[in-house]
Amino acid sequence: LLSAVEMAPRDPILGLNEQFAADTNPAKVNLGVGVYYDDEGKLPLLKCVRAAEQQMMEAPKARGYLPIDGIAAYDKAVQGLVFGADSAVVTGGRVATVQAIGGTGGLKIGADFLKRLSPDAQVLISDPSWENHRALFTNAGFNVGTYPYYDAENKGINFAGMIATLRAAAPGTVVVLHACCHNPTGYDITPEQWAQVIDAVKSQGLVAFLDMAYQGFGNGIAEDGAVIQQFVDAGLDFFVSTSFSKSFSLYGERVGALSVLCASKEEATRVLSQLKIVIRTNYSNPPTHGAQVVATVLNTPELRAMWEEELAGMRVRIKQMRVALVEKLAAAGVDLDLSFITRQQGMFSYSGLTKPQMERLRSEFGVYGVDSGRICVAALNSRNIEYVAASIKKVL
Ligand code: LMR
Repeated sequence: LLSAVEMAPRDPILGLNEQFAADTNPAKVNLGVGVYYDDEGKLPLLKCVRAAEQQMMEAPKARGYLPIDGIAAYDKAVQGLVFGADSAVVTGGRVATVQAIGGTGGLKIGADFLKRLSPDAQVLISDPSWENHRALFTNAGFNVGTYPYYDAENKGINFAGMIATLRAAAPGTVVVLHACCHNPTGYDITPEQWAQVIDAVKSQGLVAFLDMAYQGFGNGIAEDGAVIQQFVDAGLDFFVSTSFSKSFSLYGERVGALSVLCASKEEATRVLSQLKIVIRTNYSNPPTHGAQVVATVLNTPELRAMWEEELAGMRVRIKQMRVALVEKLAAAGVDLDLSFITRQQGMFSYSGLTKPQMERLRSEFGVYGVDSGRICVAALNSRNIEYVAASIKKVL
């Protein structure tokens, strides 16, 4: 049986970590996976997380099974963050939220649920998108296509192409949208453009699935989440996956969620019952620790304020690194207009470097980015940025 198993290719993003770990170059820099490191190159343990864990240790709890849909206080906190705690959709019980194994888990629960509901629907993801979007929806059984997004020539978004494709999509098509900090390009559409997307979703009868993995890394927590209110105001039902991997620096805890906005409380109850079946038949019920930490922080005013400040600190440092990278590249002698790097949002920069250039960066300089040309600017710091800029100059 197993002798016929073929070797699978390495994961385009996480596979880089394995290669990076094995690299003996002392100057190596990992700009592959989307992880925020501080200016010392260290993965931060947020103070708010430490304080929440301290509280949890002072009143240790036995670890029974959680409910299938997770910790109730956590699900409520997610709803508050995504939709607003006092919003009519939350107080009216119209949102079905389940704790998930990271943002990826939220996407997977949503994908499996949608496949049962609408087995023949097509899924559209942006071109390009996070590498795992295609794989995840394909593995859930969907035919996955794309809508235009990146405009390589103008270093921005091909919005005309995007909207034309959405307007021509068949009713019921599932459209995966990046709520903020588009991964991998870093280019976000404006609120006015969102209004047009929402109009297309509504008039074509599409199903919007918003992936919100970077809330707080663009312009702020409320600013980055504002698109959700635009969808709510349009009277649409939609899906939102949430991740706290980046915003709480809790990558390994796998803390995420899926929320589905429904037409009524009664509908939300039925949807929740089905989401629970998807979870039960995949991994039974979620783990306790990470979600308890996030719930404690979000539901304790002092800890929440601390978190908002720490998240703002990460956001500001990333923006500083964008400016510094443009400066260092110019200082290294790169004679190109790279100002687009400062127009991008979130952890990533779509650098425009080609696959062979990315391969050279890895093999000759130990600078790891994704083959698509995506680099994680959140892993740049005052010690490695000059080396990265000089290495980029050489491969250019
Ligand atoms: C990334 O895009 O690097 C992150 O979302 C991590 C991942 O799971 O791929």
